[in-house]
Amino acid sequence: MDLVDYLRALRKHWILVVLSVLLGGGAGAGAYSASAPVYRADSLLFVSMYDTGNAALLMQGSMFAQQRVQSYTGVLTSPKVLQPVIDELDLDTTPRALSDHVGSSAPLGTVLIEVTVDESSPQRAADIANSVSKHFGRAVSELEQATPASASPVRINVLRPAVVREDPIAPNLLRTLALGLLAGVVLGTGLAVLREVLDTTVKSLSTITDLGAPALGSVPAGEGGPRPELVVEGSRSPQSEALRQIRTNLQFADVDHPPRVLVVTSALPGEGKSTTAVNLALTAATAGMRVVLVEGDLRLPRVADYLGVEDSAGLTTVLAGRADLDDVLQPYGDTGLSVLASGPIPLNPAALLGSRHMGDLLARLRERADLVIIDSPPLLPVADAAVLARQTDGALVVVKHGKTTRDHLTRALERLRAVDAPVLGGVLTMVPAKASDYSYAYEYGYGYQPTVPDDAEAVVLER
Ligand SMILES: Nc1ncnc2c1ncn2[C@@H]1O[C@H](COP(=O)(O)OP(=O)(O)O)[C@@H](O)[C@H]1O
Ligand SMILES: [Mg+2]
Repeated sequence: MDLVDYLRALRKHWILVVLSVLLGGGAGAGAYSASAPVYRADSLLFVSMYDTGNAALLMQGSMFAQQRVQSYTGVLTSPKVLQPVIDELDLDTTPRALSDHVGSSAPLGTVLIEVTVDESSPQRAADIANSVSKHFGRAVSELEQATPASASPVRINVLRPAVVREDPIAPNLLRTLALGLLAGVVLGTGLAVLREVLDTTVKSLSTITDLGAPALGSVPAGEGGPRPELVVEGSRSPQSEALRQIRTNLQFADVDHPPRVLVVTSALPGEGKSTTAVNLALTAATAGMRVVLVEGDLRLPRVADYLGVEDSAGLTTVLAGRADLDDVLQPYGDTGLSVLASGPIPLNPAALLGSRHMGDLLARLRERADLVIIDSPPLLPVADAAVLARQTDGALVVVKHGKTTRDHLTRALERLRAVDAPVLGGVLTMVPAKASDYSYAYEYGYGYQPTVPDDAEAVVLER
């Protein structure tokens, strides 16, 4: 995934990101109100040497103090200092536990030591800090004595005693909130990217090409509903434009032998096969071709319903020898389109579609039409479409954007190859108009065609 893909993932799953950020903010606010306040007291100590008559020590002067100061910070949190503090203040704790609350730091090159004490009570923090300073001075004096009898050359002065400070240092509302929000952003982004990575549905024509089928184009999503929108003659709707492009691509895929009889199929039900078949047939008829649309889905026929024509007699009637082709072929409007509806549903569609009668019928249709489009059932559940495709010039495989998975498409294409049926190409359909990958999907279908300039209509209107 590159940056553009990440941004696309964020845009697509923005609700997830917003929810995560809200959750993070809420968690921050919750953590803030749930955590007990912490008060800090600090005191500043100054380490000095004074004249003990020891010339060697004096010569080294404050250099000595500076070097010692670093070790003193360790002394400060040792039991040697903290135990007397506990005893003095009568604290219910141990030196080890108390040392977690006591901090010391000595800026390099100085003889200063800062003591900080964090406690749940401001008063106790100040008391401990002052007591630590006091007992620290004693401990150092004792440690630096040359002999038990001699005086210590080091002296600890309290530069700034600890005072009671009522404002807590923690929790910090702004910081806790910011941390929560940041965690939310990270979580949301992670989830969005994860969803995108785990999403194996096909969303671009390049994926179809990658899986081995030529990309014929993509059809944007329309209104939806029980009956799809039909393309209307002369329409400049995105769907109509897309279908015109697909028809052109189909024609030019093999200029010398353009497919004359083709099956429209897909991996699974509900992926837009019938819609594509009907609209492609209408598009070709509008362009002046003699088109026959055959209902080859004898399990869930939809073509007659979508076009609003009769379906009591049709393909199965002809195959059963109960009617002649010309009696049941229904012209559609004044276009060059004729529809062969399903007729009564048979018990064994696959066998019927693979029969010699079917082959003969297709040969007859091929003679009288420029283009025969056969709608069909999905490839993965039943064999019908593969059986049909083998007898035609090839299959057009419909892929539903964001729904058909790579795996299903791969298996569908394998079904076709297994019976040596040519794959004419893939059509990506129901591409959401708002999706940023819409234009992406259009890369192939659009832009290369010699289209009428956009202002052509406007010019006509002005005249
Ligand atoms: N381009 C499209 N935009 C919006 N809805 C569509 C589009 N193509 C198909 N549909 C809808 O998808 C559903 C299934 O379409 P259909 O063509 O019957 O699928 P199939 O034949 O693969 O089972 C229908 O409700 C149809 O209206
Ligand atoms: Mg269908």
